[in-house]
Amino acid sequence: MNLPRQVRVVEVGPRDGLQNERGPILSAEVKANLIDRLSACGIQHIEAAAFVHPKWVPQMANSDAVLARITRHQHINYSALTPNMRGLERALEAGVDEIAVFAAASEGFSQRNTNCSIDESLERFQPVVRRALDHGLQVRGYVSVVVDCPYEGAVSPTKVAQVSDALMQMGCYEISLGDTIGTATPGRIHTLLDAITPFVPVTYLAGHCHDTYGQALANIYAMLEAGISCFDASVAGLGGCPYAQGASGNVATEDLVYLLHGLGIDTGIQLDRLIKVGQDISADLNRMNGSKVGSL
Ligand code: HMG
Ligand code: MG
Repeated sequence: MNLPRQVRVVEVGPRDGLQNERGPILSAEVKANLIDRLSACGIQHIEAAAFVHPKWVPQMANSDAVLARITRHQHINYSALTPNMRGLERALEAGVDEIAVFAAASEGFSQRNTNCSIDESLERFQPVVRRALDHGLQVRGYVSVVVDCPYEGAVSPTKVAQVSDALMQMGCYEISLGDTIGTATPGRIHTLLDAITPFVPVTYLAGHCHDTYGQALANIYAMLEAGISCFDASVAGLGGCPYAQGASGNVATEDLVYLLHGLGIDTGIQLDRLIKVGQDISADLNRMNGSKVGSL
C-alpha cells in the first residue's frame, strides 16, 4: 500500500477541544499551559485560539490573553480561527503565525455557525485572506459538514468540491475537510475525495474527523490511502462543536499518532509525552480521557 511516509498533525485541542467546554471560561493560564506542554511533544502546528464573537463561543473569549501567555517556539506554527475582518485584526494584534477561515458545505450549518449563507461567507473571506497574505500569514481553509449536516442530512460531494475550490482559489494553502458530526464511513470518504480531487489536488487537502460514531481512524485510513498527509486531532479527544448538537471531539491525537507510527509513518511527535499531557488535561477538566491509547 502506497501510504505517505510523513504526516503533519495539526493539534486542534486548545481550540476545537476547549471551545465546547461548559462552565466558566477556562483561564488563560490553564489554556497556555496546555499549549506549552503540547509544544514540548514535537507537534509542529497548534491551533491555539479562535477570534470569533465571544457571545457566540464564550469559551474562546480570552484568546488574546492565551496567545500573550504562551512560550513560542520558532518551529511551531500557532494559528487561530478568524471568521471575519474583526477576527483577523484581533489575530494580527495577538501575533499569530497563521489564520484559518471556516466555511460550510450546507446552508443550514453556514447560517447557524457564521450567521450568513455559504456565498456570503466566501465573499466575507476574500478581503480577510488577502489582508492576511499581505501580512505574510499563511491561511488555512475549513469546510464543515463535508459528509452529513445536522440540519440538512447528506451533503452533496459536488458542493464540498465547489467550496473547497473557492477557498483554494482565494489563497488558502490547505483545505481541511470537516466531518463535523462524525457520521462518515470510509466508502463515503472515497466518494467525497473522488468528487473533490479533480478540482483541488490531494496535496492541498487535510482531514478533520470528529469521532462521534467511532469512525474517525477508519476514515483517516481511507484518506491516507487517497494520499492525504495532514490530519487534525485533539489531545485526549477533547471537544465537540457548539453548533452541532451531540458532536464529540476530534479523533484523539494520541490514537492518531499510535496508528501512524504503527504504519511506519513519521510524525515527529513523542507519543509518551503526549499521553501524559492528555491524562493531565482530562484530570484538570474532570472529564473522561477520550483517547483509548491514553487510557491504558
Ligand atoms: P454576527 O453577529 O453576524 O456579526 O456574527 P456582525 O458582523 O453582525 O457583528 C455584530 C457585532 O459583533 C459587532 O459589534 C462586531 O464588532 C462584533 P457591535 O458593533 O454590535 O458592538 N464582532 C466581533 N467581535 C469580536 N470578534 C469578532 C467579531 N465579529 C463581529 N470576530 C460571526 C458573525 C461570524 C462573527 C459569528 O457568527 C461568529 O463568531 N461565529 C463563530 C462560530 C464559531 O466559532 N463556531 C465554532 C468554530 S467552527 C468549528 O468548530 C468547525 C471546525 O472545527 C470544522 C468542523 O469540525 O467541521 C472548524
Ligand atoms: Mg471541528
